[in-house]
Amino acid sequence: MTIRDFLPADAPDISALIIKNLRDVNSKDYPHDTIERLVDRFTPENIIGESSWRHIIVAEDNRTVIGTASIGKKTIDNTADRFVLTVFVHPAFHGRDVGTLLMREIERIAAKWCTHMLVVPASITAKSFYLKLGYRFHDGREQVTEHGTYTMTKVISHEACT
Ligand SMILES: CC(C)(COP(=O)(O)OP(=O)(O)OC[C@H]1O[C@@H](n2cnc3c(N)ncnc32)[C@H](O)[C@@H]1OP(=O)(O)O)[C@@H](O)C(=O)NCCC(=O)NCCS
Repeated sequence: MTIRDFLPADAPDISALIIKNLRDVNSKDYPHDTIERLVDRFTPENIIGESSWRHIIVAEDNRTVIGTASIGKKTIDNTADRFVLTVFVHPAFHGRDVGTLLMREIERIAAKWCTHMLVVPASITAKSFYLKLGYRFHDGREQVTEHGTYTMTKVISHEACT
C-alpha cells in the first residue's frame, strides 16, 4: 500500500468509497436524512473543488484508491491550528491500519507546515479511532456538536518550527 497526493482522476473512486462508508457504516450512528445529505455533498466535482483549499491524500493498493484524508491548507482563525477533514477508508479495508497510516502522513504534513494543533470534527463512528491515535475532546468535553461530530484535537510537535 502507498500513500500519495490526490489527483483529480481519483475523485470518482474517493466519492464512491465515502458514499459506501456513509451508507454501510456511518448510517448506524446517524439518521437517514443526514447520511443522504452527506452523500449529495461528496460528488467527484465537489471533491475536486475542495482540493483547492485542502491538501488531500489517498491510500492506494494495487492501483486502487482504498482511503483518503485531508488537511486544511489555511490555518484556523489566524492561529497555527488546522482542520483534518474527510478521513475515510474503504470498508473492505477497515481495521488494517490504513486509517492510522493516513493520519500519520497528515500529522507529518502538519508538522512540516508548523501546525500547532490539529482539529478533527470526528464522526460518532470514528471517536474510538481518534482516541487511539492520541486525539482528545476539545476542552475535555465529550459533546456532540450541532454538526453531529465531536471536536477532537491533538498538539503536533514541530521542532523545526520552534
Ligand atoms: C475511522 C476509519 C477512518 C479508521 O480507519 P481504519 O483503517 O479502519 O483504522 P485502523 O485499522 O488504522 O485502526 C486503528 C485503531 O483504531 C481502531 N478503530 C478503527 N476504527 C474504529 C471504529 N470505528 N470504532 C472503534 N475502533 C476503531 C482499530 O480497531 C485500531 O485499534 P487497534 O490498534 O487496537 O487494533 C474507518 O474505520 C472509516 O472510514 N470509518 C467510517 C468513516 C468515518 O467515520 N470516518 C471518520 C470521519 S471523521
